[in-house]
Amino acid sequence: MKHQTVLGQAQEPASRFLRACRRLPVDATPVWFMRQAGRYMPEYRTIREKFTLLEIVQQPELAAEVTLQPVQTLGVDAAILFADILLPIIPMGLKLEFVKGEGPSIESPIRTLEDVQSLRAISAESDLGHVMEAIRILRRELPEQVPLIGFAGAPFTMASYMIEGGPSQDYRIAKGMMYAQPETWHALMSKLADTLSGYLIAQIQAGAQAVQLFDSWVGALHPLDYDRYVLPYSAQVLQAVSGKGVPVIHFGTNTSTLLKSMKRAGGNVIGLDWRIPLDQGWQLLGEDTVIQGNLDPVSLFAPISELRAHVREVMKQADGRPGHIFNLGHGILQHTPVENVKAVVEMVHE
Ligand code: CP3
Repeated sequence: MKHQTVLGQAQEPASRFLRACRRLPVDATPVWFMRQAGRYMPEYRTIREKFTLLEIVQQPELAAEVTLQPVQTLGVDAAILFADILLPIIPMGLKLEFVKGEGPSIESPIRTLEDVQSLRAISAESDLGHVMEAIRILRRELPEQVPLIGFAGAPFTMASYMIEGGPSQDYRIAKGMMYAQPETWHALMSKLADTLSGYLIAQIQAGAQAVQLFDSWVGALHPLDYDRYVLPYSAQVLQAVSGKGVPVIHFGTNTSTLLKSMKRAGGNVIGLDWRIPLDQGWQLLGEDTVIQGNLDPVSLFAPISELRAHVREVMKQADGRPGHIFNLGHGILQHTPVENVKAVVEMVHE
């Protein structure tokens, strides 16, 4: 079988999502959403009143419960593990906090080669055992047709937080390290590539049925800088998980000019954000690529009739080709009306 060589799996999967990842025919286009669990959901907020984000992800039973919420409420075709891309930096030795209204904050960001050298090499299975335990619980609890997606941040997006210490508008400090201290930059990216490869492999071994690499902020880069400073490290991670029998999704935002390089870096599925029409993205990447995307998350705030028109537009551009996974172009925003998210699932399945 042709697909056996691609993903090392002999059997054809039953789930729509896994079938689409392999460009097999599906009864309806599969749909799931980045950030499908979170504050826009009342059942998440109820749990969040009692626990912080880190407390939720560090208790496998709770993380599993939150992961299941959107599966039950929305009827999506895949579950994404409830965790955060920044979790691995805690056992690496950085102090991470999530500050209300501001996002992640790192107490002593990485600025020198000594800082990089002092980062611990972690063992994902023991240092992030709570993540692996949540995966094992979820594999027992999820219905068979709803596969579990594991994930990690890509080296650039991880490095940008570790260097900046939090979110950034212009990545001045991170790019500053790239240009002024290339040795430090490459040492950090290399360490991250090793760590993130091990983390994703451990998730697959624990039972993740697909993995996504989030390079959320990579669109800040010139394509040549991507090729020089980032591509080799993303490629290392994507290469490490290819051939492990599960589909690998490679996602970023603001990537219209980076798509070809991202495909070269790897992944069997490429995520598109909403700034590029899906058919144009597909054409750039080649018809043999599996595409995930790409509704604008803000269109979920539109009146239903307008939202329906936007969903139709994406579906029309996908044009029934095999290998389309419907998603947003980025994560669900806080305050998104839950009933609109649910309506999109129904529209896509129709
Ligand atoms: O449902 C899911 O998609 C799974 C859970 C998930 C979270 N973070 C939980 C979370 C996933 C896949 C992530 C990935 C993540 N985390 C990314 C990549 C995806 C993206 O959105 O680009 C990034 C860049 C992060 C870093 C991060 N974590 C930021 C910038 C923030 C603050 C943003 C905000 O909305 O406050 C977080 C916190 C975070 N991670 C929340 C959730 C649900 C907010 C929740 C809370 O405080 O309860």
